[in-house]
Amino acid sequence: MLRFVTTNEGKVAEAREYVGDEVVQFDFDYTEVQSDDIGAVAARGAREAYREVGEPVIVDDSGLFVDALGGFPGPYSAYAEDTLGIERVQELVAREDSQRARFRCVIAYCDGGDFAATPEPVDRGRRGQDVAADERGRATTDDQVRHGEGGRPVKLFEGVVPGTVVPPRGDGGFGYDPIFEYDGRTFAEMSREEKNAVSHRGRALAKFGEWFAEREPAD
Ligand code: IMP
Repeated sequence: MLRFVTTNEGKVAEAREYVGDEVVQFDFDYTEVQSDDIGAVAARGAREAYREVGEPVIVDDSGLFVDALGGFPGPYSAYAEDTLGIERVQELVAREDSQRARFRCVIAYCDGGDFAATPEPVDRGRRGQDVAADERGRATTDDQVRHGEGGRPVKLFEGVVPGTVVPPRGDGGFGYDPIFEYDGRTFAEMSREEKNAVSHRGRALAKFGEWFAEREPAD
């Protein structure tokens, strides 16, 4: 069994498409650390959730990163959506020279075991440090955040999708979907399957699913 820490059933359904039926929803309120790195937020959540349940867990964290706004709202996307609303975020972006943006999603996996068999570097939760994911989903040590937990390896998988922020169109999806255009259509104008096939979360889940299929059970 693999527990996906989320309150969003849609995300669980999506994860099943990549990982299989063993994914179950796990409603657990982990601490969302203030960090400008979504990898660190997800890693912290995965450790905390693993500590709670003692079985394999994944946590995801996503955000909309606008190039001309230095990556804003990024890790603060949920806050910006709640306070400004997506229309005002779009209006802010419309004033800039470029409307280019990307959605990023990081999936953090923790099962209490070690990942010595995997070639990529792994976040080992060194004291006072955390590790971010780079563009290809490998862990890096460039961005560090203090969280005071140690000893639990977490592996990070990142998915990125480039697009353009446009005035809202479409009725589907959620969050920023109506203002995020990819290949001529907003995410809100796509079916769920069409969006998943190209989305940041779909890309991160695909990488994770591939790796997880090869994963030996934790010892
Ligand atoms: P979370 O990390 O999935 O909770 O998302 C953080 C913020 O990004 C929230 O404001 C979400 O609405 C937004 N967000 C995350 N993924 C998507 C997506 O696929 N489409 C639109 N908005 C998203």
